[in-house]
Amino acid sequence: MKSLIVTGGASGLGRAIARSASEKGYRVGALDVDGDALEKTASELDNVVPLEASVTCIEEIYDAVSEFGETPDVWVNNAGIVRFAPLLELSIDDWKAVVDVNLTGTFICSKVAAEAMSERGSGSIINITSINGISAGTNSGAYGATKSGISLLTQQMSLEWGKLGLRINAIAPGLIDGGMSEPIYADSHFRKLRTEKVPLGRLGTEDNIADAVLFLASEEAHYITGHELVVDGGIINSIIANLPRPSSVDSVGLDEN
Ligand SMILES: NC(=O)c1ccc[n+]([C@@H]2O[C@H](COP(=O)([O-])OP(=O)(O)OC[C@H]3O[C@@H](n4cnc5c(N)ncnc54)[C@H](O)[C@@H]3O)[C@@H](O)[C@H]2O)c1
Repeated sequence: MKSLIVTGGASGLGRAIARSASEKGYRVGALDVDGDALEKTASELDNVVPLEASVTCIEEIYDAVSEFGETPDVWVNNAGIVRFAPLLELSIDDWKAVVDVNLTGTFICSKVAAEAMSERGSGSIINITSINGISAGTNSGAYGATKSGISLLTQQMSLEWGKLGLRINAIAPGLIDGGMSEPIYADSHFRKLRTEKVPLGRLGTEDNIADAVLFLASEEAHYITGHELVVDGGIINSIIANLPRPSSVDSVGLDEN
């Protein structure tokens, strides 16, 4: 039986990844700092072991892996937090908290996972980034900087750990109707405005991200490493399309004919 550990597994995208992996026959470890939410999630899902730990503490991560009792085949770095503020108003404490959980947490967990996986000579690490790490967004400077950092870390890990038998990839979710974005989409006005911007005309679901994780973890993806898979209904490509242009400007440059 293959096994998978997902950080931030108690809620949102992490819970969906845990559920989907368990349905596909994985033995799953859901690792989260929120013990109550974790117990609830583990009690609702089959084959899911609750692992209470913070991704910011390497000793807790080592303990969580030994509590799980085996080196997982797949490690998903999904735990993440966001603190919205314009950069000039963002406190250093909030900046550090976001960097600590998102970026340092991803490095700590990847290091622990890679040490164990390299002994076996195989493993897959999947990092959850965001389209916010590809393009700057409103009041999300700290968050975007960490997600961009995770993208580069994904490339670096794939470069260094390929020869150890490990594949490292990332998934950049777009506008997802769930998890930390629930309060945004609970507001019907903003829900409509945002949905209209997505080329596919709908918001993404937690399961869309879980499906992408299970694909990158699968044999079908065995030659894919260092890749960031954008799962966003096309919105990252729509930035220029949203810029207004006078209809009188229909061609520019010399007509050579
Ligand atoms: N929901 C979205 O719209 C969206 C879009 C793009 C990217 N993402 C990314 O997806 C990932 C999951 O987000 P979500 O929307 O499910 O959020 P969420 O808030 O629902 O879940 C995050 C989970 O991480 C856990 N967590 C926080 N700090 C932790 C720590 N130090 N150690 C262990 N666990 C910790 C929380 O307890 C929570 O269970 C994040 O990395 C987020 O940046 C989400």
